[in-house]
Amino acid sequence: MGKRARIAVLPGDGIGPEVTAGAVAVLKAVEARFGHTFVFSEWLLGARALREKGTPLPEDTLAACRDADAVLMGAVGDPAYDLAPYDQRPEYGLLHLRKSLGVYANIRPARLYRALADAGPLKPEVARGLDLVVVRELTGGLYFGTPRSIDLVAGTAVNTLPYTRPEIERIAEMAFRLAATRRNKVTSVDKSNVLETSRLWRAVTTEVAKRHPDVTLEHQLVDSCAMSLVLFPSAFDVLVTENLFGDILSDECGALVGSLGLLPSASLGDGPGLFEPVHGSAPQIAGRDLANPIGAIATAAMLLGDGLGLHEEAAAVHRAIEAALEKGARTADLALKGTRALGTRDMTRAIADEVAAATTTMETAPGREAACGAPQ
Ligand code: IPM
Ligand code: MN
Repeated sequence: MGKRARIAVLPGDGIGPEVTAGAVAVLKAVEARFGHTFVFSEWLLGARALREKGTPLPEDTLAACRDADAVLMGAVGDPAYDLAPYDQRPEYGLLHLRKSLGVYANIRPARLYRALADAGPLKPEVARGLDLVVVRELTGGLYFGTPRSIDLVAGTAVNTLPYTRPEIERIAEMAFRLAATRRNKVTSVDKSNVLETSRLWRAVTTEVAKRHPDVTLEHQLVDSCAMSLVLFPSAFDVLVTENLFGDILSDECGALVGSLGLLPSASLGDGPGLFEPVHGSAPQIAGRDLANPIGAIATAAMLLGDGLGLHEEAAAVHRAIEAALEKGARTADLALKGTRALGTRDMTRAIADEVAAATTTMETAPGREAACGAPQ
């Protein structure tokens, strides 16, 4: 049975509109191939919203997101606002949206594609087997803590890193449940040798671990974890950490797998999920058909699976990305020096074509259909 879903699309700034167009094109290929109906609506967020409506998160954008089955975001950020106060910056629109939707769990998978085994900076034997997920707490910590202030004249500024037990407990639960579907290992990342917040983080994650006896918990300090990710990336399964540490480590993971432009994410809470690639707005390459759409397209796959429960469709999109890469499709960030790279649009087309040609489980496994229809 085909499914009907309303998807709010927030292209945002810089390369956001280009990569989001790629994600929507692939979702349309899924619609056609699998017989679903997706109703897309586009809304302003970030710098464009500031310019056109004077606020980085207009009311109608937020209302549309609350009302949608899932939200697809591109990127926010524009150097023109570098000196603006924090609540009049493009980034504030995204932070306010995450907080308003209550999407406290940001799931950021990083996996080495077979075709890209030597695209990154690691020796192939070190990178081999890299398959991890950063579970980043998304609505607390330094990003939102008060007091916060800046006085440039006096030369003083303050930020605050607060966490409460329930906030740590729910993100840790999410990480342990995820690990139970994978390789049963959670690495909790903190700075408990210096920060009180991290000591609470460590105490609470240790308690939550007792409810998940099949999953192993280890603790790492964030500085040493940043190093271990480069030295032994395949030793990690699920990492769980506070907002800013997760932001930093996930960019590092982008570098390890060959390009930040590959990484998707899902921001989940109790309402509609917000699906956002890990990369930023990359203003220096915006509007030039140079951006890698794979992060946004893999994000669309997470939207299908985690957002709409369409797991077979999500898997088909992941396979389409792999197939395009196996056939040699590369955007400029991945291409070897001297080789020809595809633009954003051609890379999108290569992946959408693979989706259009995908075989469904029903077609490849008639046994399953028979079993479903068989009398008990
Ligand atoms: C990310 C981005 C955002 C963040 C910015 C744009 C506010 O870097 O999603 O990782 O810091 O969370
Ligand atoms: Mn980031």
